[in-house]
Amino acid sequence: MNILALSGNVKTPSRTASLVNLAADRLRRRIGGHVQSIELVDAAPVLFRALRADQLDVEGKVIVAAVEGADIIIVGSPVYRASFSGALKHLFDLVDYRALTGKRVVLAATGGTPLHGLMLEHQLRPLFGFFNAMTVPTAIYALEADFTDHELRNPAVLERIDRAIDEVAAITPALDTGALAAPEKRSGLAA
Ligand SMILES: Cc1cc2nc3c(=O)[nH]c(=O)nc-3n(C[C@H](O)[C@H](O)[C@H](O)COP(=O)(O)O)c2cc1C
Repeated sequence: MNILALSGNVKTPSRTASLVNLAADRLRRRIGGHVQSIELVDAAPVLFRALRADQLDVEGKVIVAAVEGADIIIVGSPVYRASFSGALKHLFDLVDYRALTGKRVVLAATGGTPLHGLMLEHQLRPLFGFFNAMTVPTAIYALEADFTDHELRNPAVLERIDRAIDEVAAITPALDTGALAAPEKRSGLAA
């Protein structure tokens, strides 16, 4: 399992990156696999050298390939102007529209106000709906006040992380046994 911890933060240290990496680590402990981390603070200056996928240089292609090649994506963003960061959107504008079909995705965000927690449902989730990815029902939203020195401390948010991980684990065996593969590839179901 390739788990991608993808954070839309554009500064460091970052509460969002901290939350996303914590969730990815907990998921890895639960289901195994390998975690790769990408933070937009590092990736965006490379990706913005291209406005379209056909303009990506080698370094940019490697970043986009990591997204397209992941089995599971934990994606998080700081809330910026009531949405996810523009840097994160630019990355997904460069990802092939077919590449994320059926991939499992956990949604996360950090913000300054609880009023913007629904950004996850109204903006980030539809992005993955476009990609036909399988977002788990529990989205994780943490406030600045939930962190001490950029480390997540609120047990209620930690509980939500574990719930989202349970949901990923619940749908992972189905993929491994080929239950979600094309009908002709399912053993015993071929006509
Ligand atoms: C330019 C900018 C815009 C922001 N807009 C919002 C917003 O609309 N709603 C909100 O709840 N927080 C907003 N915030 C607060 C950030 O979402 C919050 O501090 C977040 O935890 C930062 O994440 P980071 O530590 O990963 O950078 C904004 C912060 C900045 C710098």
